[in-house]
Amino acid sequence: MSTDPADVENQRLEIRLLLEAIYQRSGYDFRGYASAHIKRRLDHVRARNRLASFCDMIHRLIYDPPFFDEVLAALSINVTEMFRDPHFYRAVRETVVPHLKTYPFIKVWHAGCAAGQEVYSMAILLKEEGMLSRAQIYGTDINPPVLETARRGIYPLEAVRQYTTNYQKAGGTASFADYYTAGYDSVALSADLKKTMLFSPHNLVTDGIFGEMHMIFCRNVLIYFGDDLQEKVIKLFLDSLCNGGFLCLGSKESLRFSAHADAFEVVDAREKIYRKRHVRALGMQGEP
Ligand SMILES: C[S@@+](CC[C@H](N)C(=O)[O-])C[C@H]1O[C@@H](n2cnc3c(N)ncnc32)[C@H](O)[C@@H]1O
Repeated sequence: MSTDPADVENQRLEIRLLLEAIYQRSGYDFRGYASAHIKRRLDHVRARNRLASFCDMIHRLIYDPPFFDEVLAALSINVTEMFRDPHFYRAVRETVVPHLKTYPFIKVWHAGCAAGQEVYSMAILLKEEGMLSRAQIYGTDINPPVLETARRGIYPLEAVRQYTTNYQKAGGTASFADYYTAGYDSVALSADLKKTMLFSPHNLVTDGIFGEMHMIFCRNVLIYFGDDLQEKVIKLFLDSLCNGGFLCLGSKESLRFSAHADAFEVVDAREKIYRKRHVRALGMQGEP
């Protein structure tokens, strides 16, 4: 595609119209996502389908439902793994879990959980810390097919070697093999882990809060959002956390530039673990 400034501006306009078409047709709102990410993903689909322009894509989107699904799938990046960034899970175990243990019951929300590996990782960690029976874990995503995989908890056998290494580096106290049954080419995670999990569709752009959470994971999701959308979602998390609740972001994400940064204390800057400050009750009118 041309790099002439006028053409680039025209392309931007075409992409805005395309995202508007997706929103009008489906309610999926990608209009606030980071523009470089959106352009890269749409370019792939355009080239694969040998379409000359984003405008041509709009026509296909409207009249060809399988193409619509292809575009939606391209805009949602579902890369994930169990105990991704093992040092992060080690920090959760060592720094966050002691606080969680002070509650009789905890609620944990994994926003943008993709196919659920992050959710099963946390369930294993909580089980090893004797907390699983006192926890309710929610896994949400905008992508229904990946949520279905999350509910099944069945993953390719070839991924298990990596998951096992991650589990050990994350400070796992048992054998990772204790948590799955191996089949011919896949493994099924234990039903015991699933008892505390609830998976449901939830769109961080358009849907509301999940109340009184003790911990929210939203890792490797905000990175795809533009600045304004990131702010909106961070506010959603602030409103969803109980006082003293923890927020965990991905390694390339941060609260540093957020207008809501002061509402959190930094628990672990490297692992992007934050804690909602206790909000003091406001004094009565007239009180100093
Ligand atoms: C790269 S994956 C991250 C998975 C996991 N959290 C991890 O760190 O391994 C990003 C996920 O965010 C989801 N996502 C993107 N936009 C979303 C939105 N508006 N609301 C909820 N989930 C969203 C995608 O469908 C995808 O499954």
